[in-house]
Amino acid sequence: MREMILSNGVAMPLIGLGLYRINNGEMSRCVREAVECGYQLFDTAQWYGNEEGLGEGIRSCGVPRDRIFITTKLQSCHRVAQSINESLSRLRTDYIDLLLIHWPMGEDLTIWRTMERFYGEGKIRAIGLSNFYGEDLEGILRGAEVVPHVIQQELHPFRQQANLLKYYRKLGIVPQAWSPLACGKNGLFENPVLLRIGKTYSKTPAQVALRFLVQCGICPLPKSTHRARMAENMNIFDFELSEEDRADIRKLDTNRGLFGWYD
Ligand SMILES: NC(=O)c1ccc[n+]([C@@H]2O[C@H](COP(=O)([O-])OP(=O)(O)OC[C@H]3O[C@@H](n4cnc5c(N)ncnc54)[C@H](OP(=O)(O)O)[C@@H]3O)[C@@H](O)[C@H]2O)c1
Repeated sequence: MREMILSNGVAMPLIGLGLYRINNGEMSRCVREAVECGYQLFDTAQWYGNEEGLGEGIRSCGVPRDRIFITTKLQSCHRVAQSINESLSRLRTDYIDLLLIHWPMGEDLTIWRTMERFYGEGKIRAIGLSNFYGEDLEGILRGAEVVPHVIQQELHPFRQQANLLKYYRKLGIVPQAWSPLACGKNGLFENPVLLRIGKTYSKTPAQVALRFLVQCGICPLPKSTHRARMAENMNIFDFELSEEDRADIRKLDTNRGLFGWYD
């Protein structure tokens, strides 16, 4: 089972390639190599400045559009409809698979209503949020006609947010993990617990971390520009962490964000 079915029936690949800090020039190679490694989902954002490169990369990799899942994110509360149309044009596509509000920016419900309109017209297949907590999230839930299908948050072994995940589950919202490898912070790639557990399955700490997220019902978005690492991060479907392993990884939670924003 390598996909997650969203509350509206859309199938979203479980793992996607994160594209933050990948420039337009590198994108075609990264998309081609990622597709060869089995990736179908690509996570970009207006803010990353690489939607154009992704559009070109998808077009040139030769995979039919309906076998690719594109996520992008809005970066402003101004001229939202125009901004969505500009993303469609940069991505060279008639539809976006998943559109998120990148972070709370005020006017969020107004942005959401525009997203709901594009969703209703079939130009967006699923809509969601990123970095929304507390009242920012509640405000959307109170006024929304469409409950967010996906919420993207900082999620990795050092920030597990178990209570938030329970709440999402109740609402039928699928959690997606940004920085699922903690961007290497806190020594994730050398962490003794992840190393020890990995040894029993001949897996790396990165693979153990990603597998842990998947077994928690979270869809991770690891970023790499290196083909070998793209393949490594995708190769997590041939083993299963035991309850004991997961209990040990749960103890790594620091209950705080590592990036100093959106805490
Ligand atoms: N919604 C949001 O606000 C938000 C915020 C942050 C990120 N994101 C999304 O989440 C994606 C992932 O987050 P991220 O890029 O911050 O961090 P990440 O995926 O946790 O970590 C990426 C870093 O780890 C390295 N790496 C990847 N796989 C590895 C492996 N198997 N072994 C050793 N090193 C490995 C990468 O280096 P190389 O590239 O050199 O391999 C890169 O330096 C982003 O690209 C973006 O799409 C969203």
